[in-house]
Amino acid sequence: MSNHHCPFICLIVAGAFLFCSAAMAQSNDNSPVAVELLIRADQPGATIRPELYGQFAEHLGRCIYEGVWVGTDSTIPNTRGIRSDVVAALKKIHVPVVRWPGGCFADEYHWRDGIGPREKRPKRINTHWGMVIEDNSFGTHEFLDFCEQIGCEPYISANVGSGTPQEMMDWIEYMTSDSQSTLADERRANGREKPWKIKYLGVGNESWGCGGNMRPEFYSDEYRRFATFVKNYPGNRIEKIACGSNGEDFNWTDVVMDRVGARNMTGISLHYYTLPTGNWDHKGKATGFPQSEWDSTISRTLHLQALLDKHLAIMANRDPQHRVRLVVDEWGTWYDQEEGSHPGFLYQQNSIRDAVAAGINLNIINNHADGIMMANIAQMVNVLQAMILTEKEKMVLTPTYHVFDLYQVHQGAALLPSEVTAGKESVYVSASKDKEGAIHVSLVNARADRAAKVTAKLSGPVVKSVSGHIITAEKLDAHNTFDQPDAVKPMPFDGAEVKGDQLTATLPAKSVVVLELK
Ligand code: AHR
Repeated sequence: MSNHHCPFICLIVAGAFLFCSAAMAQSNDNSPVAVELLIRADQPGATIRPELYGQFAEHLGRCIYEGVWVGTDSTIPNTRGIRSDVVAALKKIHVPVVRWPGGCFADEYHWRDGIGPREKRPKRINTHWGMVIEDNSFGTHEFLDFCEQIGCEPYISANVGSGTPQEMMDWIEYMTSDSQSTLADERRANGREKPWKIKYLGVGNESWGCGGNMRPEFYSDEYRRFATFVKNYPGNRIEKIACGSNGEDFNWTDVVMDRVGARNMTGISLHYYTLPTGNWDHKGKATGFPQSEWDSTISRTLHLQALLDKHLAIMANRDPQHRVRLVVDEWGTWYDQEEGSHPGFLYQQNSIRDAVAAGINLNIINNHADGIMMANIAQMVNVLQAMILTEKEKMVLTPTYHVFDLYQVHQGAALLPSEVTAGKESVYVSASKDKEGAIHVSLVNARADRAAKVTAKLSGPVVKSVSGHIITAEKLDAHNTFDQPDAVKPMPFDGAEVKGDQLTATLPAKSVVVLELK
């Protein structure tokens, strides 16, 4: 395209965006928007793998240190150095998988730094995140202990950018071999007799950027080389995940799918963050933002739908048998860091806007359950769109945590097709049927200023009762603090009714509702 066309195209794109935002912000009419839905309860489809509700924990800011690890001498209650309040909160939402140690940190991480007596572990500089000292007190044993404490699968992100295949291969043997090899014995000497099971391994992170600035052709070759040395020791089977695209880099997905080949990987990743302004220099504030940034956050969150459709179509073209699945292993809101916090720590508050964005993203992800193998919100504690915020001994659960809590009913359930047939651009939905036959419908009213009156037609089994929970708030940036930890939390919802094959519900503005139909 010549530069000559750019202003015209830009005008169209900007116009469409303004139209969409204006439609959301429009009018003084505060009457509920009429929304019609169709839920095909008689057509259960793909299983919503529990892994779609995964988390990501990087050595970044206060995620690992303070957020998870307080050390064995801490006065904060802990089990072997891992804080008990955080473990209890994560167990409650049944976190299925945690990705670690990064992120950008992963491609500078050398696993040997994090084993053996803690006082002897080397001190390194975390060059990506604030140039702070990384004392390596949280390493392989601590991470895998943490996974066992919360009951999740580990997803290890291996160092391709500055590591070697040998280093990665040794790490895998150290963790997963039950043999009498020197590496397995070293693990035993460090306190772990039985090998761990490692199900997921990422071969590099953001190899197009912080992971080595590679081109997709070069990365594909690197992937093939590294993947050759990912060994399955008896009793363990690793699913290999290739580094995928940054948002709209469709060429990356196409080239990696083509050159790596479907036989050589189980998944390929995608990273997509929601910035209210779309500008990395001024992303927008986590609280105290104008309604225009509520609206733009919603529009930019919704973009995930188109991204998934396009990446999955490219993958299907290269892999018609659908052997490779998408792994959305970094998603979430990214705002300007909180004033006064360390610039490299990515600490941000979390409000009702994050709950709504999480609800939309999880609905979109559920609705692509046949093509997605895992998704991991960024990040678990004290970083970006966190579940949990901590300050010394205090802990607070965020609105995003509460969405994960309500949505856990979808984990392992069968996706039910659902669609909005009238009143689009207000309400976003996904639905599933669990093993006991209960139907769960998660509804998000993304409008900041108007309620939605939802009428849903249910095809299939007769439903007799409905109950549910709601997360909502008056203010655009309502959030929980250490002094007011329950300002935004789920409440019982009695605004829904079923009659025959019809479900009705009135959703307040800015709300996430999960209904159970029996
Ligand atoms: O989640 C923060 C950073 O975002 C990760 O380290 C990196 O992979 C991405 O760019």
